[in-house]
Amino acid sequence: MELIPQQSTGERLFYNENLFLPSEYYEELIRAITQKQIRFYPDPWNSRLASAIAEFLSLEREKVLVGAGADDLLRLLIGQADVVGIVEPSYSMYEFLAKSMGKEVRAVRYPEVGGLKGADLIVVNSPNNPTGLMYPEGYLEELMSLGTVLLDEAYVEFSGEEGYVKRAGDGLIVVRTFSKAWGLAGLRVGYAVMDEGLIRELKARALPYQVSGVSEAMALKALTLHKFVEEAVREMNSVKEWFYGELDRLGVPYLRSWTNFVFLPLNNYRDAWRLLKERGYQVRLVERPGARGIRVTLAPIPVMEGVVRALGEIS
Ligand SMILES: Cc1ncc(COP(=O)(O)O)c(C=O)c1O
Repeated sequence: MELIPQQSTGERLFYNENLFLPSEYYEELIRAITQKQIRFYPDPWNSRLASAIAEFLSLEREKVLVGAGADDLLRLLIGQADVVGIVEPSYSMYEFLAKSMGKEVRAVRYPEVGGLKGADLIVVNSPNNPTGLMYPEGYLEELMSLGTVLLDEAYVEFSGEEGYVKRAGDGLIVVRTFSKAWGLAGLRVGYAVMDEGLIRELKARALPYQVSGVSEAMALKALTLHKFVEEAVREMNSVKEWFYGELDRLGVPYLRSWTNFVFLPLNNYRDAWRLLKERGYQVRLVERPGARGIRVTLAPIPVMEGVVRALGEIS
């Protein structure tokens, strides 16, 4: 798995972080920190945050489990399965986690389902990374008819859709994160919504104290500042429309996205990735089954103008 170190140079258009939130938002979050949160252990399962998330989303409190990023929860959930089904193209972490824990992996390409039979956990993400597409409801229902589905909704807040958290429970687990739309990737906070019996089972095996008191306090504060996030999503969407117009003008192929990134299925995607890198833009080279191209995180216009100029050189 390719991991980019913090100190690497160039614009970070690689991790799908929210690049539209103002520093005022972060200043308010920093003001939520107290010495106590540093001196003392946090609540073992971050119950205050779990309750606040449940209230924010109108869910039952017992159905929310907080973890150190969506990845931590993915690891925990995939760790319970024997045979893991994966719908490709998808986030490479699923396959990495499953294989690193010695699981049998059954991968299919959307819209196929047949090869997933026998999987005791089917992992799918919608809106999808890397394509930015959203799967139709009928497809998710088809997956649920085959087994327990772990739906990763890391990007749902960008989509304008409600997603499936309210339906989470028997046979459906939904994982979300504060790393993307909420702009808190450095804090490592995610949550999963599922049947409360399953949460009890997981807690019996999981490590407590995974999310620090500082991260918890900031995530709690962020929930009260959701207006900043909504405004940032609006701005991102208007840049996205502008970007589509520029790509049309250049004749560069792209998929219309439900997220804060755009996937470009270019034939010469490796050359494009290299040239963008040389021009100071780090985008993601995607080589997943069913998706080859580059994935560009949306940034404010001055940065995107540079991306468009560079794409103009190769198209
Ligand atoms: C689909 C998907 N799920 C989960 C994550 C990881 O989220 P977190 O930062 O909460 O671990 C990412 C990050 O790139 C992602 O794209």
